[in-house]
Amino acid sequence: MSDWLWWRDGVVYQIYPRSFQDANGDGVGDLEGIRQRLDHLAWLGVDAIWLSPCFPSPMADFGYDVADYCDIDPLFGTLADFDRLLADAHTRNIKVVLDWVPNHTSDRHGWFVESRASRDNAKRDWYVWRDAKPDGSMPNNWTSMFGGPAWEPDDTTGQLYLHSFLKEQPDLNWRNPELVEAMHDVLRFWLDRGVDGFRIDVIHRIAKDAALRDNPPAPGSLYTWGNQRHDHDENHPDIHAELRALRAITDSYRERMLVGEIGLPPKEVATYYGDGDELHLGFNFAFLHCPWDAARFRTEIERFERLLPPGAWPDFVLSNHDVPRHASRYGQPAGREAPGPPGHQTGREAPGPPGHQTGGDARARLAAMMLLTLRGTPFLYYGEEIGMRNVPVPEDRLQDPLARTLHPSLSRDPERTPMCWNATPNAGFTTAATPWLPIGPQPPRTDVATQREDRASLLWLYKNLLALRRNHDSLHRGSYRSLDAPEGVLTYERRSNSEIARVALNFSDQPRNISLGSGRITHQLHTNASAAVATSADLRLGPCEGVVLILTT
Ligand code: NOJ
Repeated sequence: MSDWLWWRDGVVYQIYPRSFQDANGDGVGDLEGIRQRLDHLAWLGVDAIWLSPCFPSPMADFGYDVADYCDIDPLFGTLADFDRLLADAHTRNIKVVLDWVPNHTSDRHGWFVESRASRDNAKRDWYVWRDAKPDGSMPNNWTSMFGGPAWEPDDTTGQLYLHSFLKEQPDLNWRNPELVEAMHDVLRFWLDRGVDGFRIDVIHRIAKDAALRDNPPAPGSLYTWGNQRHDHDENHPDIHAELRALRAITDSYRERMLVGEIGLPPKEVATYYGDGDELHLGFNFAFLHCPWDAARFRTEIERFERLLPPGAWPDFVLSNHDVPRHASRYGQPAGREAPGPPGHQTGREAPGPPGHQTGGDARARLAAMMLLTLRGTPFLYYGEEIGMRNVPVPEDRLQDPLARTLHPSLSRDPERTPMCWNATPNAGFTTAATPWLPIGPQPPRTDVATQREDRASLLWLYKNLLALRRNHDSLHRGSYRSLDAPEGVLTYERRSNSEIARVALNFSDQPRNISLGSGRITHQLHTNASAAVATSADLRLGPCEGVVLILTT
């Protein structure tokens, strides 16, 4: 496949480094641990890994508070460890994407230490400093996504600095050209080292209203952030020029990629592709809000297809480090989903029995088939391939700052728990007595070793779907068209010059008869490993079952 392009035709796997594999026995995952597990990823068949931040950080927001963009936190290893990981990933044809956090640094970053030292420091303007209003109130009404006002008073100079997230995460000032140049150098530092791309954190917030006008109120939320319209503190039009500059830098290297986190509706996300000169991909988080409903999924798929500018490539996500894992979301009885934290991508789970919900497995299988057969780059979240669920974390072990600043029920810890490699007490993740977050409970057989032995497992379904997607250009590159289907069923066609793939996914809890048209079946894959082999495209799917048929044209 000479025109294979990894970020368009391949599949990206997100790793939360703290939780993938602990190689040095301190209870926290590290880069050497990831390197040791590359064979699992190669066996599975993913094309790229995205590492959540592993740069030096006080870990106030677990790495999303960066203290040095050009090094590795000792907790995770060294730059030499990173280079080894990169080289070994490349040997296996796995690309490596880093998580770049341009909106804010840690308050311990050298730049901020300088900036806060005096009003006339050379780096003062690299951050956003303002005086309080004459009556002593905040410079404006902006709020932090993590609760409370977005301004923090600083005694040294008597001014306040802006922070969209924690007060330990001061916002950078992208209107300062020196700061912009320094951030470009950061990208070049990693690109020169051979990094294949960047996931860009909250890119929709890097430019804000230059006059810092108040946001209009929009009462109705439990949380301060939700009580205003974010007209002036995000999605500023000036962001697009910054993106074009970032794109020019990455395009000056071969086959590098930018994928942006844009916490806005799909209509806005689509604008971040520019005219093919901004992001390669904008995260499409629409599925994170989708109930278990074929019609809703169809609506979201068609919406993103329709909104994207010509030539732009879609993507799909079911889980990540900020939202409850989808095996838990969809394993819940209907109506258990609680409203989410402000600015976050989806609902938190209501507290409930851990993991063992009925239906969760069959739904995880069907969701996997959908994610891996759509037109658009799939992003997998570590552990979804074995059906990991959210793990309830006792209050005295909560780590996520949101548990403190907002509410314990909004903690993201449950979706960040260690990867389960085998059925031993610490799941093969660590030799430490106490891992940084609890390992379980997970449903029985939720581990890599057990599932590798079982061809009917979810893990094998992921592996088979990844192989099918890779081997069939209809699936990795073909066009998308929704097909008519009985209620509760999602059917679609993916078409290339040489073949057609038709997919039927029964989201309902009843069997359904489905006709996938004519054509000779050359390959097929069923979510249910014991389903009968389809001999025609007229078939009957059991509740929560799905099938992919590859047909000759
Ligand atoms: C979005 C990241 O995904 C989230 O984990 C983080 O807390 C915020 N940005 C702040 O960087």
